Amino acid sequence: VELLPYNTFGIKAKARYFTAIRSIAEAQALIASNLFRKEKHIFLGGGSNILLTKDYDGLVVKVELRGKEIVREDDNTVTLKVGAGENWHALVMHCVAQDWGGVENLSLIPGTVGAAPMQNIGAYGVEIKKNILAVEGVEIGGGEVTLMSNEACHFGYRESVFKHEAKDKFLISSITLTLTKKNHAYNISYGAIEETLKQMGREKLSVKNISDAVIHIRQSKLPDPARVGNAGSFFKNPSIHADLHDFLKKRYPSLPSFPSSDSLVKIPAAWLIEQCGWKGKTFGAIGVHPLQPLVLVNYGGGEGEKIWQLAMDIQGSVKEKFDIILQPEVNVL
Ligand code: EPU
Repeated sequence: VELLPYNTFGIKAKARYFTAIRSIAEAQALIASNLFRKEKHIFLGGGSNILLTKDYDGLVVKVELRGKEIVREDDNTVTLKVGAGENWHALVMHCVAQDWGGVENLSLIPGTVGAAPMQNIGAYGVEIKKNILAVEGVEIGGGEVTLMSNEACHFGYRESVFKHEAKDKFLISSITLTLTKKNHAYNISYGAIEETLKQMGREKLSVKNISDAVIHIRQSKLPDPARVGNAGSFFKNPSIHADLHDFLKKRYPSLPSFPSSDSLVKIPAAWLIEQCGWKGKTFGAIGVHPLQPLVLVNYGGGEGEKIWQLAMDIQGSVKEKFDIILQPEVNVL
């Protein structure tokens, strides 16, 4: 099966086997099947956070569990259970339309609901861990349906238990989110939100206005995966020791940074990559985005292996210049 339609990087690669699951019962049947037991396998949501570097010699399972239901509601909050296969941005738009607050800063993030807790999606000052009450999934071992509390998910920056201890052991089937119906806790810590609202002549804070501002900001600097192949930020923003930061700051006074913990400082990977001269560079069909160098792009017909090579060249040059090792945020297959 050709995987081109299933990955936002727009890479041509084939899977030996391909199937889709639309319900928990289908997931349980699949897990118990011989094919699943025998072949290596991966679960795929929107395919917006993977880089295929070669054909996949195993089974690709597209998660298509749908559904959105209110499981609890009072005057102040609403708790929603949403199927893993639902589109993330469509869910955000649904919440915005009802004036439910909490996920408006996460507007326009590509991908599915089930992939959101995996890497604890975050943007413009908000991470999804703030809203997640629980994550439901099917145990790959025995097929039982289990619920993981927010705490059990061990959320961190672009991290969760699903990338570590629970990796290959738990198929996320739905997430439960709590949203506000009034007294919304707006997050405008990311300066550009207020600036954008001002430009748009909509300075009043509301769920809808913040969502529109975020959409405006994203559209102005991030490539639309429907037009230009990409998987968002290719690397994570690294945290470095305060000592290394102080040393680098003397050499590069313009070095931007954000406190991350007592002894660690977060540095924007975009800045490091730009300093190494990569911003806007193209190499045949692939390149480094001209507005956001943290995003690698496939202008059409690019090969996954070449993109991976470019990523490694970028990593090497950042290591050489700054002694910082950038870690990929994208799952490389
Ligand atoms: N910067 C540059 N040159 C550039 C662009 C940015 O030096 O061309 C520096 C600037 O110092 C800027 C800083 O990088 O202040 C941060 O840039 P930006 O606000 O665009 O965000 P980011 O840190 O590069 C992260 C997320 C994005 C998310 C934005 C907004 C990661 C890996 N990426 O990017 O998430 O949308 O913040 O909150 O944390 C994604 O994960 O796919 C993604 C797009």
